[in-house]
Amino acid sequence: AVSPTTRPKLTLSNPELERKVMECLSPLVLTEDQQQKVREVFLDEMRLGLAANPERTSSLLMENTFIPELPDGTENGEYLALDLGGTHFRVIYVRMKNGRFSEEVVDYFHVPSEKRLGPGQDLFEFLADCIAEFVQKRNLGGRNFQLGFTFSFPMTQKSLDVGILVSWTKSFNCPGVVGEDAVKMLNDAIHKRKDLDITVKAILNDTTGTLVMGAYMDKRCALAMILGTGCNGCYIEKVERIEKWLGKHLESEMIVDIEWGAFGDNGVLDFIKTDWDRAVDDQSLLVHSYTFEKYFAGKYLGDLYREILLTLTKKGLMCGGKIGNLHTHGAITTTSVSRIESDTFKGLLEETKMVLNDVKLNHDDDDLHIAQYVAGIISYRGITLVSLITGILLERMQRNHCTVAIDGSLFKHHPRFRPLMEKLISEFAPGRSFDLRLAHDGSGKGAALAAAIAERLEQKRSL
Ligand code: GLC
Repeated sequence: AVSPTTRPKLTLSNPELERKVMECLSPLVLTEDQQQKVREVFLDEMRLGLAANPERTSSLLMENTFIPELPDGTENGEYLALDLGGTHFRVIYVRMKNGRFSEEVVDYFHVPSEKRLGPGQDLFEFLADCIAEFVQKRNLGGRNFQLGFTFSFPMTQKSLDVGILVSWTKSFNCPGVVGEDAVKMLNDAIHKRKDLDITVKAILNDTTGTLVMGAYMDKRCALAMILGTGCNGCYIEKVERIEKWLGKHLESEMIVDIEWGAFGDNGVLDFIKTDWDRAVDDQSLLVHSYTFEKYFAGKYLGDLYREILLTLTKKGLMCGGKIGNLHTHGAITTTSVSRIESDTFKGLLEETKMVLNDVKLNHDDDDLHIAQYVAGIISYRGITLVSLITGILLERMQRNHCTVAIDGSLFKHHPRFRPLMEKLISEFAPGRSFDLRLAHDGSGKGAALAAAIAERLEQKRSL
């Protein structure tokens, strides 16, 4: 068995083959110099993203979330929350008593691809239908609800309840929404029906929801990220360090949504880009965007894996040069990459065989070891990238201790993520005290907390 924190190693019965495979895959192994450069480039993009008059446009949005405070234990009452960002839409009801959740009800609704790709208005009407079904089924009709809306896409916010969509990402591409306020579109759909009495109090990104939920679990939480279908993070910034908002805010701190999935969209990360990354991008729904996310997030890791095996087989370095079904987009999923990694850490080959069988590849032991090595290095590269960024943010915030709240399928199910992140972040931010905490359902429950925070802020302002 191999530890998830060690660098992937390839040992084959045929040393010549081993050398050739390693050489072919070497662009996926980040050198020290490249890591240092990623660090420098990220710092520079952050600086530009926060600047009032940047000399060029940053690939990091560094967006205001209008959430200056975290839960403080005074939250009371009933709230609804929505969570949209993937193929499952969630509607959530919570009751809060003195800052704690005393009741929670969650329902999932599948979002079919015609809603994810069709006209925006249809999408929001579909969301309103789901809310109505939920309210009816749970006997929650006949009263007004304050609602928090997690909308996991890049937005420019004008206030806590106005979120203009900057671009679609992941598996959504509905015409008629970019440049529009998602809250207004949701409200229009809600008001079209006569059976819903809902006030949308807050719109937020899923990372923001996760940070708010993280703070509910542990007051020392100041950084949150999603490692799932997409990848992004947010953190608490001192407003005095956000040059572009100078004079606009009286608050001393604010949650900033970095939108680091788009890191490198202006070309600054091209020095680590491989032909396989280009192929993944070319076949994605929204080409030439979300560069960083496409290097390893759940929507893309399986595809990256498939592209690499395709090259290795075509070059005759694997599976007798037969490509099986490897040309089929989507034939290998990120879950399969996780399963192969689990095999590696258990010293087994069973799952690896199954994955290769599924794409119709004949294999000998060397092929299986190559398959495991590829899963290892692409995961290692992704984890290195996200750990480099985490290290930078921990250094920037200079907290005595920082709890990092994380949600998402990669973090939950990929066996290398948590242990290797812990190791690499300690190396990249030496001496900083932190821990990684799973904020399960953070993006949904965090939205309910955000609605409660919004109410409190309103009361404060009207005093
Ligand atoms: C994509 C979205 C971003 C979201 C992330 C995780 O990167 O653009 O807003 O936070 O996915 O779901």
